[in-house]
Amino acid sequence: MEFDINVVNSENDQNILDRFDANYSELKLLSRIKLPSKIRRVGLTFNARPDDNIPESDNVSLEYDEPETIFAIRDALQSGGYDVVLLEADQDFMEKLKQNQVDFVFNIAEGIQGESRESHIPAMLEMMGIPYTGSGVLSQAISLSKTRTKEILTYYKIPTPKYQSFSNSTEKLEKKFKYPVIIKPDAEGSSVGITNGSVVLNEKHLRQQVEKVIQTFPGPALAEEFCSGREFTVGIIGNNPPKVLPIIEVTFDHLPSNMVKMDSYESKWIFDTIDNVNDPLRCPAKITPKLKQIIENIAIKTYTVLGCVDLCRIDIRLNKRGIPNVLEVNALPGLNPNPSFHSRFPYACAKAGISYDQMILTVFQAGLDRYRKKNM
Ligand SMILES: Nc1ncnc2c1ncn2[C@@H]1O[C@H](COP(=O)(O)OP(=O)(O)O)[C@@H](O)[C@H]1O
Ligand SMILES: [Mg+2]
Repeated sequence: MEFDINVVNSENDQNILDRFDANYSELKLLSRIKLPSKIRRVGLTFNARPDDNIPESDNVSLEYDEPETIFAIRDALQSGGYDVVLLEADQDFMEKLKQNQVDFVFNIAEGIQGESRESHIPAMLEMMGIPYTGSGVLSQAISLSKTRTKEILTYYKIPTPKYQSFSNSTEKLEKKFKYPVIIKPDAEGSSVGITNGSVVLNEKHLRQQVEKVIQTFPGPALAEEFCSGREFTVGIIGNNPPKVLPIIEVTFDHLPSNMVKMDSYESKWIFDTIDNVNDPLRCPAKITPKLKQIIENIAIKTYTVLGCVDLCRIDIRLNKRGIPNVLEVNALPGLNPNPSFHSRFPYACAKAGISYDQMILTVFQAGLDRYRKKNM
């Protein structure tokens, strides 16, 4: 007999349904987060870097923000007339949130642990009905996983390098790969776990690297065809419509000849330091109007299908046929204010004539406008 969902079998079932109805209508009301009529107090949610000498093995803290970034965002929000409360996103966060009534949150928190760490603060804010800047729970969780991101990109026919996910190093290798192949952790950032040795030319080394990544990092290993062409990173700011910032080319000419031309851990943290005069970024990138158009379209489409809002930075690299491929999506792009730090999102804003304070206030306004629109 087919199950008829309209048939209620007992009084108990009816009670459950009544309760469900009541909860559901309450939920529907709650799902529309109310924006206070006046925004006065803004919470700034962050995770601060413990100090400068973080070992590579500390994959999570490496992503945290420098105190100068946190203070610069606070100052920018204050220049917009808001009172700012600093809320460190640690395990006492919920208590702090309850003690400090804030009307809105500017979120840059990377999260402290777990496979969905970047979505924890958005999830808690959503639960407490507090509006916040930046991408929501689902987009943060998906974009932290490079593999999940690529599945969505593939679904929408956005070019991304061929890939295979490995949860152990003995899994059968699909025939599709052409070497070189790069092996990277699924859910890290800032080039953590990506070194010269990550790029392999044969199956034996591929399996060794997969094993290393699986042993070192919590998630699966991602094997990807290596794109050997020029690399770009594309900032996007705002919504309806989102605006593409001047495209940045990331160059590798400054790297020693024995190093793979890529933004590896060594390249980002050893060869591009504050004390190093080398600036690997070229912005706006010198590219043809046609390539610029293609890259911008790919970036906007990626932002849209992943449900990113307010700000984002997308890494794109040309394959050997010159086709732009999306490598990954940074829903929480670094926002360091020090020009010598070469933080990419502020770098592109500066080239577009947007000062640091304007950048922060534009992101903040984009967030406000989203909730205003929802409340209409
Ligand atoms: N498939 C690939 N082809 C070529 N270079 C790659 C590929 N994947 C990663 N890289 C290089 O490694 C860098 C870091 O990889 P990415 O996927 O952006 O991870 P992260 O989250 O650490 O920034 C890229 O900026 C690029 O230089
Ligand atoms: Mg990247």
